[in-house]
This record gives sequence, structure tokens and C-alpha cells, in this order.
Amino acid sequence: MFNRPVDTIIDLGTDKICTIIGRQTKDGEGEVLGVGIVPTQGVTQDTVVNIGALAEAMAASMRQASKTARTAPSPAFVGITGPHLENVSCTGSLFKDDTDLALSPLDLENALVAARPPHLALGQELLHLVAREYILDGVRGIHNPVGMHALKLEVNAMAVLGGSAQVENLMKAAGRAGISVRGLVFQGLAVGDGVLTPEERDMGALVVDIGAGTTYIAHYWRGVFWESHIIPLGGHNLTNDIAVVLGAPPKGAEEAKRTWGTAQPWKISPTETIQITGFDGTSHQEVSRKNLCTIIHDRVVELLELVQEKAKELPLGRLPVAGVVLTGGTASLPGLREVAQDVLGGHVRIGAPVSLRGGEALAGPAFASSVGTLLWSLRYGTPQQEPHNGRSGVAASQSAALHPLRSGR
Ligand SMILES: Nc1ncnc2c1ncn2[C@@H]1O[C@H](COP(=O)(O)OP(=O)(O)OP(=O)(O)O)[C@@H](O)[C@H]1O
Ligand SMILES: [Mg+2]
Repeated sequence: MFNRPVDTIIDLGTDKICTIIGRQTKDGEGEVLGVGIVPTQGVTQDTVVNIGALAEAMAASMRQASKTARTAPSPAFVGITGPHLENVSCTGSLFKDDTDLALSPLDLENALVAARPPHLALGQELLHLVAREYILDGVRGIHNPVGMHALKLEVNAMAVLGGSAQVENLMKAAGRAGISVRGLVFQGLAVGDGVLTPEERDMGALVVDIGAGTTYIAHYWRGVFWESHIIPLGGHNLTNDIAVVLGAPPKGAEEAKRTWGTAQPWKISPTETIQITGFDGTSHQEVSRKNLCTIIHDRVVELLELVQEKAKELPLGRLPVAGVVLTGGTASLPGLREVAQDVLGGHVRIGAPVSLRGGEALAGPAFASSVGTLLWSLRYGTPQQEPHNGRSGVAASQSAALHPLRSGR
């Protein structure tokens, strides 16, 4: 077997469940040992609607990954997103009565504990408490103050909250699948590890992940995850619009979108026609390809305008300097980058995840969050840590502060 510990992550999406078993190589790089990708069951718009069906799909994904990695299933971090997730900014502080004593990891932990939102709405729970920056005697932008001296330590933090019922349903599905959950990881927090360069993280960039059920916007700034927003629209809405407007079944609409779709209908000749598979699975209806692409374009523009609205709520009130990195399966739509550049105005690129040894199956933007979650787990998860019950405390160091508070049972 392997002489280095393995890490397992499960990226739970509306469209696919992607399990990756990986490990850190001797030179500190990530390596993929096994991948299991199966269609998701029991989830609609990133919301669990059938625990039994989801459990079966999770188990199948884990079986596939374990088989290719030739290891037994191991406890996993589960990457999640969904409309039930929310961010709240919070601050905590502490005073040192002896400035001769340097700040310790315990001081950081205590400042973070003080930053915990005091009241959560009924049905909400804290998933992550992320230290964005430390402020020492009024000096901002310090990432790791351990060993430094100050009278007052403040932490500017971001709390990621999840809907308790959704979290319970997900944990129940994992339990039924026989999967031990090490913790839940908000994908927006992890995706930056998979696609952003250090310069983009420093200068400020948005990762806009357009999956099937939801789109999340993860803002990275000053080298760290800063905040996120969720828009309850994704690729399924494009498919649904095509199905409704053209009177086609979802399967035929999905196939047409992927095969002939582009976000730039003006590039398509008005005389070009395509065949969409009908409800009986054998008949076809002829439609204008330009019409199909106009339906796609209109919904894409609506979605991008919502992204722009959210960008106005960022600290600078506009798009970050390094622009936008588009990820998620919908980022494979031809012409999306160009239309996004027109609507958003800044620099836009498609974010394929960093390539890892053994990770050839994870090459497209749909796997940015999966690869990001694996790298996150290798960086911040304690390898082969036993899952523990209930909620853990707030961790001391900055990296550990990213550790999910909600873990397996
Ligand atoms: N070539 C393509 N053109 C247009 N859309 C595409 C293409 N390839 C994939 N998609 C769309 O990408 C979506 C799936 O993306 P992804 O795999 O990122 O979703 P997910 O992670 O399962 O969902 P979510 O992140 O919302 O939970 C589907 O709606 C699919 O139709
Ligand atoms: Mg996704």
C-alpha cells in the first residue's frame, strides 16, 4: 500500500458527484490516485430532495474512486454549495497585558473565538470561520502574527453559515452510504486553490463557478478568501429554458445545448437548423440553431448581470483588479468568456484546474471545485485525522482556522 497518507474528498454537485483520492508527493505536490465520477441523484439545485437516492450515488462514487486507487474507502471532506449557504463578516479582539510576550497560536484562536457570530438564526449553523486578516494595534493586513508583539490583536473574519436541515440531510445520506465525513467544506472557499495564481489571489479576483444548480461567486483578495455570494441559477436553467421555449424534453434540450449551443447567436446563420430529440427518444424536431443560441444568450446575460450586481457589493464596489475566472461545467459553453467580458467589463478567463499527476480525468472547468477541494484538504486537513463527533472548536493557526467546524459523526 501507500507509505504516505491518502486524502479523500467528495465534490457534491447538482449534476455530478466527484470523489477524488489523492495524496501529497514528497516534493509537496498533489497527486491523484483514484477518481469516481457519477451522476448525482436526489439533489435539485444543490438541495437534498431524496436522501436514499443521494446515498446510493455517493456510495457508487466512493466505490469507483477506491477501486481505481486500490485502497479501502477512507473518511472524506465533502465539498458543498447551495442557496442555503450565507456569509457574515465578523470581528474579534483581545488585549495583551504584557507586550513583551509575543502573540501565540492560542492568542489567534482566542481572537477568532471572540469573532464567532453571537446569534445565529434558527436553522442556521456555522460551517467555517475564516480569518481574513489580523490587525495589530491598528495596523491592518497581517496574515500570520504569531511571534509578533502588540497590545491589541483584532481579527477580521468571515463566517460561512449553512442551513442546519440541509446539512443534516446531507450527513444522513453520507451515513447511509457508509461514508465517514471529516468535515463539510464550502466549495467557494476551496476553489481558489484549484484555479487561481498567487498574483490573482493577492490583487483580487472573482471565481464565478457556474454549475448545474447554482452559481457561486468567490472573492479572493489580499491573498485569502474574502467573501462569497450565491446565485440560485446554473446550467440547468439554460436547459430548462430551451425545453420550455422549444417544447423539447430536458434530455433533448441538454444534448442540444452541449452540442450546438453558444452564447453568441449573432455568429450563427439564420438558415442553420438542428434536430432535437423528441419526448419518445426517437423522433426529432427541427429548430433554428440561432433560436437555440438566442435562448442561451438571454439567460447567460441575465446571470452575468446578477454577477455584476454582486460585484458592486464588494469592498471596492467594482470588479477586482485581476478580473473574473469562470469555472463549473457551464464555463465550457462556447462564447461565454466573450459575452462575460462584454457584460462585466473586466478581464475574464476560463479556469481549468491545475493539472495534477494522475488527474487527467479532471481537466475541464467542471472539476475546478473538485481539484480545489482536494488541494484544500491536502493543505489544511490533518491527514488521516479520525472523524470526531459534533462541532470542533475554533482552531488556532490561520490555516487551521479554515478548518470546517462541522465534522462527521
Ligand atoms: N459544453 C457545454 N456547454 C454548455 N453547458 C455545459 C457544457 N458542458 C457541461 N455543461 C453544463 O454544466 C453543468 C454541470 O456543471 P458542473 O459539473 O460544474 O455542475 P455541478 O458541480 O454538478 O453542479 P453545482 O455546482 O451547481 O452543484 C450542466 O448544467 C451542464 O449542462
Ligand atoms: Mg459544482
